[in-house]
Amino acid sequence: MKFGKALLLLTLSGAVFAPTQITFAQDSIEKAKAVRDEDGKYYDADGNPTFNIQPDGTVDWYTFSGYRRYHSDCHVCHGPDGVGSSYAPALVDSLKTMDYGTFLSIVAEGRKNVGGGKENVMPAFGDNKNVYCYMDDLYIYLRARAVGAAPRGRPPKKEDKSQAAKEQEKSCMGG
Ligand code: HEC
Repeated sequence: MKFGKALLLLTLSGAVFAPTQITFAQDSIEKAKAVRDEDGKYYDADGNPTFNIQPDGTVDWYTFSGYRRYHSDCHVCHGPDGVGSSYAPALVDSLKTMDYGTFLSIVAEGRKNVGGGKENVMPAFGDNKNVYCYMDDLYIYLRARAVGAAPRGRPPKKEDKSQAAKEQEKSCMGG
């Protein structure tokens, strides 16, 4: 009987919540659409950085770079490809609704959740160049993952790194 009840609940919540989630997903796909290209860096209609993935799977440079940075500094807690772990939330879900500004401030300042007897800490990366010089890369990659535009794993093909990206990196890492 217990099992039957759980099944019923699952069915009910599926029926109630699924349409909302679909609307969310379509919304965020629409919002994430690249409308402007500045030297290989793409922006949505609100002026926030976003990804651009071609039909043959070629990703923009920033999505590729974000993939690499994510897997060097974030995946140990947030799981491979942003799918989450028992320790830290799935960023592929967080970024379905989290805006760019909120993302930047959480990554720079960190966060501590001491609720429920567990202490899960998101470290502050505001003084870590390997992260803060690549904030947009991380955001762009995770955004692509969150709206389902980038599959799991290493992107097979990428656009070339632009001169602008090289200069930005040099001045941030060197300064
Ligand atoms: C030492 C483990 C650890 C590392 C490394 C880490 N995080 Fe976190 N992160 C956490 C935990 C734990 C939370 C949840 C904190 C909370 O509940 O307040 C979190 C929360 C977040 C959130 C908010 C998610 C939400 O749904 O509210 C973002 C965004 C985030 N992390 C991004 C990153 C990025 C980007 C990196 C890599 C640069 C990173 N994290 C590296 C542990 C980590």
